[in-house]
Amino acid sequence: MDIKNLMLKKFQELFGNSKNKEFYFTPGRVNLIGEHIDYNGGFVFPCALSFGTYAICRKRNDQNFNLFSINFPENKIISFNLEELKKTDVWGDYCKGVIKIIKDNNFDIPFGLDIVFYGNIPNGAGLSSSASLEVLMGTILNTTFNLNIPMIDIVKYSQKAENEFIGVSCGIMDQFAVGMGKKDHAILLNCNTLEYEYAPISLKDASIVIMNTNKRRGLADSKYNERRASCEDALKDLQNSGIKIKNLCDLSLEKFQEVKHFIKSEESLLRAIHAVSENERVLNSMKALEKSDIETFGKLMNESHISLRDNYEVTGFELDSIVKFAWEEVGTIGARMTGAGFGGCAVSIVKNDCIDDFIKNVGDKYKKATNLEADFYIANIGDGSKKLGDL
Ligand code: GLA
Repeated sequence: MDIKNLMLKKFQELFGNSKNKEFYFTPGRVNLIGEHIDYNGGFVFPCALSFGTYAICRKRNDQNFNLFSINFPENKIISFNLEELKKTDVWGDYCKGVIKIIKDNNFDIPFGLDIVFYGNIPNGAGLSSSASLEVLMGTILNTTFNLNIPMIDIVKYSQKAENEFIGVSCGIMDQFAVGMGKKDHAILLNCNTLEYEYAPISLKDASIVIMNTNKRRGLADSKYNERRASCEDALKDLQNSGIKIKNLCDLSLEKFQEVKHFIKSEESLLRAIHAVSENERVLNSMKALEKSDIETFGKLMNESHISLRDNYEVTGFELDSIVKFAWEEVGTIGARMTGAGFGGCAVSIVKNDCIDDFIKNVGDKYKKATNLEADFYIANIGDGSKKLGDL
């Protein structure tokens, strides 16, 4: 059964068979380069994927929300009223958070909704299943209630929901990528100004292959917040020493070398080295792409992984193993972890005629080293969040 029919069947079973249903989709994302620098005012280069989160919804005539996810049937229907948007530590919080932030910004949400969700993003894999759900909820409210909120604001409200309601101090990259993505393009986003441009991704005879370590990102949220705090400490040390910057990534690598001694803690220094050098790598990788120099792009991906491993310390045994095995394959142009790290996915660029061997060899070696089965997906770059139609 296809996704729409599976969801329709569930919707009818739970909420009855009447008309006026709407069908929505928001993708996941993969980041090609520019990791852990969105919250340091750096450049990132993510793209939206063709898999993501779907919703079928219908307006109610009271102010109750009933949410059901085919992925989490054990949570049954999550029901709440518009007036009581409290965190309950289940997946529905991502929706509640967005409803709350949009409501707090004085948009009129006149009715509640019955919604069935289904996602095909492997969850907890670092491909932004949570940002996908947040931006999806924002898109649903915006469209069903004609709120006329520009997508960039849905993106910002979704990030705010994650920061304030969920309690993860994430940057804006994920919500931006899943809200603003464009088929066959990656987005070069300046996270300081939110200026962006779409870059067509044509890898000639190669493809983007996502490698899922299937190691869940345990404790990722608290470690993520720690990394962010270390960067803020480094920034404060520099600012207190008279360096006039707003973000770590305002510094070129050259300038950073001159001022880095102002950073007091060894750990914050390491984090700052990553942030500043990663930003430089993104800029260099854009120059390489402009010249269709995929080889250099791949090398910069490898360097990004090494810095995330040694300076930012967000990789871990599973990610390091899978990336190392990817580097060992002849057809690999570049490979690195992607997303927050601590497990989840890595991304690689692999020559098309080597992909079968790549999957087999990397999968076998990884299984031997970790006793885990990796999954591999060839990434198709899709569009951002949208309504698919009326049902
Ligand atoms: C998570 C966050 C993003 C970004 C990445 C790391 O995905 O949600 O804002 O910081 O980690 O690049």
